[in-house]
Amino acid sequence: MEIGVIGAGTMGSGIAQVAAQSGHKVWLFDTNEAALEKATKALAKIMARLVEKGRLSEADAQGIKERINCVSDYQSFQNCGFVIEAIVENLDVKRSVFSSLEDHVSDTCILASNTSSLSIASIAASCQRPERVVGVHFFNPAPLMPLVEIVPAVQTASDILDQTKNLIDGWKKVTVVTKDTPGFIVNRVARPFYGEAIRIYEEGIADMATIDWAMKEIGGFRMGPFELMDYIGNDINYTVTETVWTAFYYDPRYKPSFTQKRMMEAGYLGRKSGRGYYDYKEGAVAPEPEKNQVVGEAIVWRILILLMNEAADALHLNIASAQDIDLAMTKGVNYPKGLLQWADEEGIQKVLDGLDKLYLAYHEERYRASVLLRQKAAFGQKFLG
Ligand code: NAI
Repeated sequence: MEIGVIGAGTMGSGIAQVAAQSGHKVWLFDTNEAALEKATKALAKIMARLVEKGRLSEADAQGIKERINCVSDYQSFQNCGFVIEAIVENLDVKRSVFSSLEDHVSDTCILASNTSSLSIASIAASCQRPERVVGVHFFNPAPLMPLVEIVPAVQTASDILDQTKNLIDGWKKVTVVTKDTPGFIVNRVARPFYGEAIRIYEEGIADMATIDWAMKEIGGFRMGPFELMDYIGNDINYTVTETVWTAFYYDPRYKPSFTQKRMMEAGYLGRKSGRGYYDYKEGAVAPEPEKNQVVGEAIVWRILILLMNEAADALHLNIASAQDIDLAMTKGVNYPKGLLQWADEEGIQKVLDGLDKLYLAYHEERYRASVLLRQKAAFGQKFLG
């Protein structure tokens, strides 16, 4: 099957590589010639590195490069069975791309969007045949991150969903199916990892280095929240939080923080700007954490129960199955364990008690426990069999 990719930026070029590695002929389109050149050069570099490391033969690398064809119009999409859009995150621009795209593809072609925050229903509504539109959300970097969230809109036909899932599974990705709601699974459930860490810092309970240390050493997370926000970029992370908060009709649970907003406004974006929560300039001395086990455990528990609460609430609202929610967090953001399984192991009553204690102390909606946690605790049930 031939694959079309629209947008040759960070995500589009990575998705093109994934498809070509699975043997597809790929048409990579971008309105910006320079983006196509940059993507071609970057791909050549990646291929050379993989050959050097012995992970790819010279012939395979050559084949992958040859299968990706850069194009500057939609004409080449006529034989594609699947076209995925990865352009700028703007609903009006995406809708206009989708509506003109339909004139250039076959009737059986599936149209997918890699959007991380926009409504798939709204993108699909711009098409004559909205039933063939689906969300296919890769994670960055697409060739390395195993998770792909598949997002059927209300209009998506069930066979389109099945075909899409089969295709992406064939690309050796881990797929989960999620409802078309803000943040899908990962960007919704992960909010407290950042938000509650910032809150703990704002309250002066611990400094950033200590919170990062606790989450890694005690919690088992691969990166601490502040390190990770610096890695993602405070502009991007703040925008995701703000988008999710707005899209949930300003549910206070997702409220962004002034701390991160100011970081963004100051241009302290993280690694990419040389300074974020930490200083990345040459010779900068990293702050030392205060390795207090009791404080560390309290920090981890507070962030963890908020994450578990989000996972429980996503399950309660049928955003995805329990298995897919756990898979999404382990494969999309490398959590050491699925949150629902983790809650089962810790004890749901204990998780609920922790949340209720916070709610009682703060009287803030951000600590309101999901009714599903309460039900499971009342009946002594677990999330996973
Ligand atoms: P990017 O800015 O790196 O690349 C976007 C590309 O689209 C640019 O090369 C631009 O020239 C091109 N473009 C813009 N308008 C176009 C049009 N009308 N037709 C054709 N090409 C056009 O953006 P990035 O980061 O790759 O994001 C793309 C999409 O993927 C967005 O919807 C974003 O929300 C989503 N996404 C981004 C992730 C990330 O970590 N960067 C992760 C998952 C999803």
